Amino acid sequence: MASNTEVLTDEAQPAEAQSGKHINAGQVRKFLQIFRYVMRYKRYFFTGLLFLGFSTLTALLFPYVASLLADAAQGKTLWSVRELGWLLLGILVVQSVFSYARIVMFAYVSEYTMADIRKDLYARLITLPIPFFEQRRVGELTSRLTADVTQLQDAISINLAELLRQFATLIIGLTIIGLTSWRLTLLMLSTFPVAIVVAMFFGRFIRKMSKQTQDALANAGVVVEETLQSVQVVKVFTNERFETRRYQKAIDNVVSIAMRTAKYRGLFVTFLISAVFGGIVVVLWYGAVLVQQGSLTIGELIRFILYTVFIGGAIGGMGDLYGNLQKALGASERVVEILHEKPEVALQPDAETATPALTGNIEYRNVRFAYPTRKDIEVLKGVTLQIGRGEKVALVGPSGAGKSTIVQLLMRLYDVNSGAIYLNGQPITSLNITHLRHHIGLVPQEVILFGGTIHENILYGKPNATDAEIIAAAKKANAWDFISGFPQGLDTLVGERGVKLSGGQRQRIAIARAILKDPAILILDEATSSLDAESERLVQEALDRLMENRTTIIIAHRLSTVRKADTIYVLDGGTIAERGNHEELAAKPDGLYRYLLKLQFEEAPAAS
Ligand SMILES: Nc1ncnc2c1ncn2[C@@H]1O[C@H](COP(=O)(O)OP(=O)(O)O)[C@@H](O)[C@H]1O
Ligand SMILES: [Mg+2]
Repeated sequence: MASNTEVLTDEAQPAEAQSGKHINAGQVRKFLQIFRYVMRYKRYFFTGLLFLGFSTLTALLFPYVASLLADAAQGKTLWSVRELGWLLLGILVVQSVFSYARIVMFAYVSEYTMADIRKDLYARLITLPIPFFEQRRVGELTSRLTADVTQLQDAISINLAELLRQFATLIIGLTIIGLTSWRLTLLMLSTFPVAIVVAMFFGRFIRKMSKQTQDALANAGVVVEETLQSVQVVKVFTNERFETRRYQKAIDNVVSIAMRTAKYRGLFVTFLISAVFGGIVVVLWYGAVLVQQGSLTIGELIRFILYTVFIGGAIGGMGDLYGNLQKALGASERVVEILHEKPEVALQPDAETATPALTGNIEYRNVRFAYPTRKDIEVLKGVTLQIGRGEKVALVGPSGAGKSTIVQLLMRLYDVNSGAIYLNGQPITSLNITHLRHHIGLVPQEVILFGGTIHENILYGKPNATDAEIIAAAKKANAWDFISGFPQGLDTLVGERGVKLSGGQRQRIAIARAILKDPAILILDEATSSLDAESERLVQEALDRLMENRTTIIIAHRLSTVRKADTIYVLDGGTIAERGNHEELAAKPDGLYRYLLKLQFEEAPAAS
């Protein structure tokens, strides 16, 4: 398991590593695509912007009026202290109202936007082909739906507003102090730009380090996810200690990276603060000189300082905002990447109706195939076979020969590399994939159930089935006896992935599902291989019922179960080594089938 993890981590890296560098045009374009979602709520969005503008302006009025107050105290203004006091209070109230409205508006836009993005993202994810999932980890994909989208939400609801506010503060603040005293302003400007340049350089460095912390945390999360998902395996192999150490190491790594980042961030913030205060000290001193000379009033000096603090704050905050914006761009890149993946099925049901009924004439012509994740190993090397309508065909052969692969190709979980598969004379690539899969039922060796009730799991075969249909299917599948034996009957919870049921019980639920689905083509992939004799009898009985009037492909390594098949294909190393019925193949001297038969014959007494 551990080695598997490492391989996958390496593969997962490039996409992650790309983000977090400089902002490029492609990222911006992708962010704008995300912004199209925001524009669905443009009325709210622009109203929010308007309120943001108002609240920023009123906030900026505040220091101005406050400085007038200082002059009024000395009797140097047209306004009295009392009037200005009321004015300040009024500004405060108006400002609060605007701020409140702004926050609610942006929350509305961002919440609805993110919900839309999440829905689209999931709809796209679930319709993507299997190879997409084999190349990525579940944890990585779920984090796109959660963490990445949340990042976008912050960008839209908080960062954008902050950026605009700080930009306005900068411009208006500079104008006001310039008008108040251009000499002081020039002095101030000769100190701040130096700080800004250093801050930009420093900030970029720190962002890179924050990214490393995030990646390290994600790596630790992967350990948790994997081991909790397969907690049984961990326990059976008593690897708790090993996994705990693996997790500890990952978390320690997070701490050391985070602490290193924090130290630099501390330096960064300290530098910014001292630069700001240093600037203020210089300005204050020169301001006092100007007041002494009579070219500046106390109120004007106060105004100048208040606005300088505002401007300093705005500049200081912009570094962080730039970082957040960059993160949001990275997140939107990852989100848009999925939205751009090509789905294999359409979620609209209308495409189905036009296509003809598939009765189950199957033909493989010289099919060659390698799994997308292992392109260099050809699993099927020219497979040709025919299955007539209603026929029972068996695929046998050593494990790893490619039997399951053959049936996965029929369902188009993967596409062939060369050759073709025909259904009723048409290449399956020309059929609607939903339509195609609709006509195929699969009972695998390891049935995986959803964590809900037995009822829900059977219903998966036909979501609109009635209770009577479900019960009838369960009866046919030899499942009704054990289901009605549970105190809660059909409403019994099966546990995550069905762990609360035995293998044979799960198998019969899968059969009930297939009965409800009523497919023209049935695939049994070692459906009884892992069962004990009694369950096997019950399951086999149910399967025999299910197979009636259906084209069936039976994959089995217990050859007793394939005796009755019309044709048996013996597969070896990705090619068809033999074909014929049981008698023919058993009679063939030096045949693989005869050899496998002999092996099992020898094993059988020992096994029982
Ligand atoms: N999803 C997959 N990705 C890569 N290789 C796979 C995958 N599934 C199966 N294989 C490989 O393909 C070969 C054939 O597998 P399979 O068709 O499952 O064999 P069988 O069902 O006959 O035991 C094996 O070597 C197996 O390791
Ligand atoms: Mg198999």
